[in-house]
Amino acid sequence: MKKSDMAKIFGLVLVLSMILTACAPAATPAPAAQPPAAPTQAPAAAKTFGAASCAPNCTYKDMTMCFPQLGAESDWRTADTASFKDESAKDGFKLVFSDAQQKQENQISAVRSCIQQGVSVIALPPVVEAGWDAVLQEAKDAGIPVIVVDRSVSADPSMYASHIGSDMELEGKKAGEAMNKLLPNGGNILELSGTTGSGAATGRAKGFRETLASNIKIIDSQTGNFTRAEGKPVMEAFLKKYAGQVQGAFIHNDDMAIGAIEAIKAAGLKPGDLKIVSVDGTRGGFQAMVDGWIQTDVECNPLLGPQVAEMALKLMNGQPIDKNVLTNETVYYPDKAAELLPTRQY
Ligand code: AHR
Repeated sequence: MKKSDMAKIFGLVLVLSMILTACAPAATPAPAAQPPAAPTQAPAAAKTFGAASCAPNCTYKDMTMCFPQLGAESDWRTADTASFKDESAKDGFKLVFSDAQQKQENQISAVRSCIQQGVSVIALPPVVEAGWDAVLQEAKDAGIPVIVVDRSVSADPSMYASHIGSDMELEGKKAGEAMNKLLPNGGNILELSGTTGSGAATGRAKGFRETLASNIKIIDSQTGNFTRAEGKPVMEAFLKKYAGQVQGAFIHNDDMAIGAIEAIKAAGLKPGDLKIVSVDGTRGGFQAMVDGWIQTDVECNPLLGPQVAEMALKLMNGQPIDKNVLTNETVYYPDKAAELLPTRQY
């Protein structure tokens, strides 16, 4: 072989070996040469409802709580609002309060405004159960934890930090048991229901029906939207339609019961002619028990401010919280009503 041919072959081998070296994967890549690892997915609660920048030393002074109250429809609601305002004054956190006048669209706008303001936490009492997914997602995207208070939402629990409130279904069951005792021989009853689509009305209606004895028949059910003003005409219409045919009424709150009692009086009925089971345990409900109109009042506690504030601070500090905190509640009867009335806080 000529010298020039040898040189060509040598050059070719050199070029080939350079190409192969460039294309071959490195046997053990040095850690430093690796791109930064993608962040591992934090547990949903830790990532989405994460601590505030002041954690773990946040105090109430660092907190701005958004409280888009659903309305002012009842004495219960007035007490609930006062509980949050009192707690804010006591602890020294800022409360962004609004009254949605029982309209979901107003609550959604209030939540959006709070997200824009960059509040620390949102305490949401949802007027109805459905329709919250979009705005909960917006709060989640903004890293603002939402505590659902009082009534429930139908959104997946991963969409909010926690729920604090009553077990509405259990309240309905207690009401059903009370009605069974009041009408041991059965009878026809009416239902004056709360706001249609609200967790309170749906849960109470469900629990009541699950417990009610088979010899007691609900012959009609209409909403009175949790207000005295709407409770009265519904009962007036009921009494005209079913005169002489009803023995009892399950009324979803004391305000509607008080409105209904006005209609019952106007129809010439006497205390006890209709056995009434109501919900809330407000002073008005207690007075109606003292006067003989309500036979059982199932407690629903509105004083949620302290619990919600405590949980909000834990969330800000990145501390663990319970996903569903149910209020411990009792049942009241006329025998103790006069004695307990002066002690009632709402
Ligand atoms: O969600 C709680 C209910 O709402 C109370 O029973 C009622 O009084 C209020 O309006």
